[in-house]
Amino acid sequence: MGRSAMSISLLVLACLVGSAAPQSSENVNAHWTNFGAEEADWDMNKANNVYCEKYDVDMPYEWRSRYYWTDIGDLVDISIDEACGKCIHVTNTGTGDETTVRIVGPTGHGLELDKPVFDQLDSDGNGRIVGHLVVNYTFVDCDPIPPGPGDSNVTAYFSDDYNPVQNNWTYPSHAACAALDGDICGKCLKVTNTEKKVSVTVRIMDTCGAGALELDHETGFDPIDVDGCGNAAGHLTVDYEFVKCEDEVDSPLLVYSQ
Ligand SMILES: *[C@@H]1O[C@H](CO)[C@@H](O)[C@H](O)[C@H]1NC(C)=O
Ligand SMILES: *[C@@H]1O[C@H](CO)[C@@H](O)[C@H](O)[C@H]1NC(C)=O
Ligand SMILES: *[C@@H]1O[C@H](CO)[C@@H](O)[C@H](O)[C@H]1NC(C)=O
Repeated sequence: MGRSAMSISLLVLACLVGSAAPQSSENVNAHWTNFGAEEADWDMNKANNVYCEKYDVDMPYEWRSRYYWTDIGDLVDISIDEACGKCIHVTNTGTGDETTVRIVGPTGHGLELDKPVFDQLDSDGNGRIVGHLVVNYTFVDCDPIPPGPGDSNVTAYFSDDYNPVQNNWTYPSHAACAALDGDICGKCLKVTNTEKKVSVTVRIMDTCGAGALELDHETGFDPIDVDGCGNAAGHLTVDYEFVKCEDEVDSPLLVYSQ
C-alpha cells in the first residue's frame, strides 16, 4: 500500500480501545530536547542520552522508529523503568495538535519531547517562543489491536486535524501511517450511521488508542451525518466493517464504491 496513494478514499483514525484506566495528566509543561533520533537513524546507541536504551536498544528498527521519543516526569504508580517503551498520546492544549510518542527516559517534571515532534505539536509556533508547550497526555497502547472484522453501535468522533482536501490527500507527517506500512494502515472501513443507514468508505491513516473511531470531519463524518445530529452531539453511533479499498485493483476481491 503506497503511502501517497490515498486517492479517492476518505480518512479515518482508528482510535482503538487501549488498556483499561489509562494514566492521564493535564496541563503539563512539555519542553524540547534533542535525542536526534532521526539523525541517528533511530539507533539508541547513537542518539543522545536515551535512558531506556538498556531495555530497548535491541528492539527492532520498526519498533524504535514507529513513534518519536519523549522523556517523562511525575509518574504515579509506575517507575520509569516500567514506563520505558510505553506510549503516551499527547495533545497541545493551545492548538489541539496531537500525536503519540514513546517514553525513553525520565525528566524532572512534565515531558521533554524530541525536537521534531515538539515542532509538530507546535503548529502555531507559540511553544518555540515561550520555550514550552502546555499539553495533556494519556497512556495509550503502542500497538492497538486492530479492530475485529466489524462492530456495531460504536462511537465515532470527528477530527479537524487532518484536512485531507487542503493537504491534497497526502498523509500529514503527524499521522502514524505516514511512518508505517502494513499493519492496519491504509486499510479501508465502511462506516455506517447506525440510525440513518448511510455509509462512507474511509481509509485508516492514524491510530491513537484513545477509544472509538475518529472520522475526518469534512470527508468522513459530515457525509454520514445526514440529519446533523452527530454534529450537534459531537459524535455519531456507527457500525463498521473492513472492506477492500476501492483502489486495490490487484485484489481479486475488489469492492467498488458502495
Ligand atoms: C486538557 O485537560 C483540561 C483539564 O482536564 C481540559 O479542560 C482541556 O479541555 C484539555 N485540553 C485538550 C486540548 O484536550
Ligand atoms: C445497537 O443499539 C440499538 C439501540 O440501543 C439496539 O437496539 C441494537 O440491538 C444494538 N445492536 C447491536 C448489534 O448491539
Ligand atoms: C495534488 O496531487 C496531484 C496528484 O499527485 C497533483 O497532480 C497536483 O498538482 C497536486 N496539487 C497540489 C495543489 O499540490
